[in-house]
Amino acid sequence: MASAGQKVVLITGCSSGIGLGIAVMLARDKQQRYYVIATMRDLKRQDKLVCAAGDTYGKTLTVCTLDVCSNESVRQCVDSVKDRHIDILINNAGVGLVGPVEGLSLDDMMKVFETNFFGAVRMIKEVMPDMKKRRSGHIIVISSVMGLQGVAFNDVYAASKFAIEGFCESLAVQLLKFNVTMSMIEPGPVHTEFEMKMYDDVSKKEYPNTDPETMHHFRTCYLPTSVNIFQGLGQTPEDIAKVTKKVIESPRPPFRSLTNPLYTPIVALKYADDSGDLSLHTFYHMLYNLGGVMHVSVRIMKVLSFSCMRRRAVSPD
Ligand SMILES: NC(=O)c1ccc[n+]([C@@H]2O[C@H](COP(=O)([O-])OP(=O)(O)OC[C@H]3O[C@@H](n4cnc5c(N)ncnc54)[C@H](OP(=O)(O)O)[C@@H]3O)[C@@H](O)[C@H]2O)c1
Repeated sequence: MASAGQKVVLITGCSSGIGLGIAVMLARDKQQRYYVIATMRDLKRQDKLVCAAGDTYGKTLTVCTLDVCSNESVRQCVDSVKDRHIDILINNAGVGLVGPVEGLSLDDMMKVFETNFFGAVRMIKEVMPDMKKRRSGHIIVISSVMGLQGVAFNDVYAASKFAIEGFCESLAVQLLKFNVTMSMIEPGPVHTEFEMKMYDDVSKKEYPNTDPETMHHFRTCYLPTSVNIFQGLGQTPEDIAKVTKKVIESPRPPFRSLTNPLYTPIVALKYADDSGDLSLHTFYHMLYNLGGVMHVSVRIMKVLSFSCMRRRAVSPD
């Protein structure tokens, strides 16, 4: 149970990746400011978390079952928390889906929305009323850079993240009146099981009803580009956990945090041209014309931004 003065943090999807990383980082806080309820839909998958939590397990970290797609599971878990008092809710659970739209089933698309959008909404609906009553709380959503900028062959995943962005952007205004803060964390690529599940899924799926030309673009332009981008720009779950902890500890938490500075210019393109053509044609060029040299471009972008950041860090200004 949380001790006096500790903040109770409930995180969804902690069996792997970013959720696990955030849970462990907060549980290991030197000043023990957090009591982490790390949740997952299947407790059989808890070993990795328990091992990473080490001696914080049972002290500043506990594990609880929670499936964001089930009203009952969400209610049971929140009811099991003392006085239903949750100071910080971190909506992290999520699933991906890539492929040509005509080759994906509507059932698969709905599962993505059921988890990424309705899963987070279900959690917020359960926890927010108590936060409003107490006039205090922080709701965090692990969104994505794809919640701000669509990416070819990620149509449905991006749509689910756009949906949660729109939902939270609207709700955040009202919540301010109740002293409840909302923050979106927007990672680019991160090396987690998410990436492996995506490639595994692609190798098994057949994408029926998709014309050969589209399949060719998907397999020979999109997939190699995606691999290069993950290899060149991918962050670690710890990187995302650090940004999230910084947001939690900020005296005035920002509404948006892009975790990867390399994506800032990509998102800025969208706002630089209100016709939308600039980002549309840039992405077209990147996918269909630069695909083959993408690994070189990614390396150049990395070196440039690294030296830029270093220069900023050593600058006396
Ligand atoms: N990795 C990236 O490149 C990336 C980039 C931007 C944003 N994100 C976002 O980051 C979040 C975490 O993803 P990750 O990269 O850490 O991937 P991950 O390692 O696959 O973790 C996803 C977590 O969500 C859980 N989950 C899925 N459906 C659930 C449900 N119905 N109820 C409860 N938990 C459920 C998974 O549990 P199981 O073990 O039971 O499947 C797993 O613990 C997601 O919202 C994702 O969209 C990821």
